[in-house]
Amino acid sequence: MKKKIKKILSKKNKSKIVCLTAYSKNIAKILDKYVDIILVGDSMANVLYAHENTHEITLENIVQHTLSVKKAVNKSLLVVDMPKGTYNNVKEAEKNVKLIIKKTKCDAIKLESNNRNYKIINFLVKKNISVMGHIGFTPQFKDNFKIEGNTISEIAKLINEAKLIEKAGAFSIVLEGISPLAAKQLTKKLKIPTIGIGSSSNCDGQILVTDDMLGLSGFYPKFVKKYTNLNRIIEKAVKKYSSDVKLNKFPSIKHFLNGRKIK
Ligand code: KIV
Repeated sequence: MKKKIKKILSKKNKSKIVCLTAYSKNIAKILDKYVDIILVGDSMANVLYAHENTHEITLENIVQHTLSVKKAVNKSLLVVDMPKGTYNNVKEAEKNVKLIIKKTKCDAIKLESNNRNYKIINFLVKKNISVMGHIGFTPQFKDNFKIEGNTISEIAKLINEAKLIEKAGAFSIVLEGISPLAAKQLTKKLKIPTIGIGSSSNCDGQILVTDDMLGLSGFYPKFVKKYTNLNRIIEKAVKKYSSDVKLNKFPSIKHFLNGRKIK
């Protein structure tokens, strides 16, 4: 088994798995020191491209951003989201996954579950491709965010879906918008690690969209903890720059001619 994947698996029931998204090398360079998994998520659709949903993200978008992220990733596992409509059947999935891996040299891909595509996961795993699953709120297939797993039958459905994904060979699974009780049961019943987002601390690991937790995206649902307010910090710096340029305070002598005075 691939070394980085083995390391992720070994954390189950021992230590928490830390994951975040990245779409560029500057962010990835910082994350790589502190996280286990970096995901090039199709959330870039909302976060970067201001689309209403994730559906318009293309293979080209994903490849381009992964190429940038890859430049700064050394130790973390680099996982790439398959865009909607690129894995409708096994042949299409194989062609597109191979293209992403060939162009980006990423470690693994993630695909969202629609209750049927565990068969696609199984096909890809048999081709030696590492796959991460994703259940609960799956924005490629569901329109409105709603916590799932609130009743015994909903929990049973989620467990059944997750078990099929595990059996298909996925090495881990994202649980998005799942009740704490469902997350607890899924984490207990699955051998593979569960990575939660909006699914309580009852998971083997956590993921957030980096731009959200940095206070940059302007999108802060209840499950996001804002660790800083980059919007405010950047605005302050840009305001000062604007004022400096207008008042002729920037550039000053030290910003050109290596700090030497003009004779
Ligand atoms: O696209 C993404 O960023 C994701 C995470 C929310 C898990 O799928």
